[in-house]
Amino acid sequence: MNKIPIIMDTDPGIDDAAAITVALNSPEFDVQLITTMAGNVTVDKTTLNALKLVEFYHKDVPVAKGADKPLLRNYEDSSYIHGESGMGEYEFSPHQRREIDLHAVQAMKEVLEKNSEKVTLVAVGALTNVALLLMEYPELKRKIKELVIMGGSLSSGNVTSAAEFNIYADPHAAKIVFQSGVPIVMAGLDVTLKALLSPKSFETLPSLGRSGTMLHSLFSSYRGGTPDKGLQMHDVCTLFYLLYPEKIKTEDLFVEVATEGPAIGATVADIQRKYHKNPNTKVCVDIDVDFFNQWFLEVVGKIG
Ligand code: RIB
Ligand code: CA
Repeated sequence: MNKIPIIMDTDPGIDDAAAITVALNSPEFDVQLITTMAGNVTVDKTTLNALKLVEFYHKDVPVAKGADKPLLRNYEDSSYIHGESGMGEYEFSPHQRREIDLHAVQAMKEVLEKNSEKVTLVAVGALTNVALLLMEYPELKRKIKELVIMGGSLSSGNVTSAAEFNIYADPHAAKIVFQSGVPIVMAGLDVTLKALLSPKSFETLPSLGRSGTMLHSLFSSYRGGTPDKGLQMHDVCTLFYLLYPEKIKTEDLFVEVATEGPAIGATVADIQRKYHKNPNTKVCVDIDVDFFNQWFLEVVGKIG
């Protein structure tokens, strides 16, 4: 089986931690690099959290620190959702792992250049690093198979009534990315607010070894939903799409990003297909939630 080479651009973040768990422990993926940015918490914390997770799973995957703020806007965190550390109160064992010396964008460039085949970019935080990569090295667009983004929404937002957090955090970067011509899959709130970790799945986690116990602890501090009504697995949807695209309903639409005014950070789609002949985004709009829960528990259970 040919593994899918991926770069994961992330702001751990508790749902990011669940996504990183899947990426690092699914045989279908070859995670060649994890890059971080300021998002849920500061870039120092998201980088520390990424290192904690790579160490926890004993994986030899480089972590490169990226943007410490959005391209133009002021940085706003979402520690109210993920806690001060960004990863709840779980005590990870001390370790010596450090990020590599390269900036995230340089590290991305090197990974794209060294692969003979195209690489899939999984972006589950603000799109600052990705926008910088595409601006500084436009010739590398041809080395990106597709960009699978957790972000945006065809309907309402979760930071404002119009905007989802990842896009709202850096709308100027998002605009650059959606205009880039790179094939985009958008796993926005339309699908991620349906992809809830069920109360039964949450209760099952501690029985799934040290990984399940760790994730249960993280989710116990997570304010993206509740354990009794369902926990929002936003970022995990990107990897689920890569493995089971047939379990996700998508619509090909032209999407652009508002970068000013009260709707700043909104992803606006030409849903009548009236103004743009060629869609630029595959938008995820529905998901097989039961299968998603069963799959997630299976992946965690197999880690041991
Ligand atoms: O809106 C949800 C997104 O914002 C997720 O990526 C979550 O981790 C936060 O970054
Ligand atoms: Ca995230």
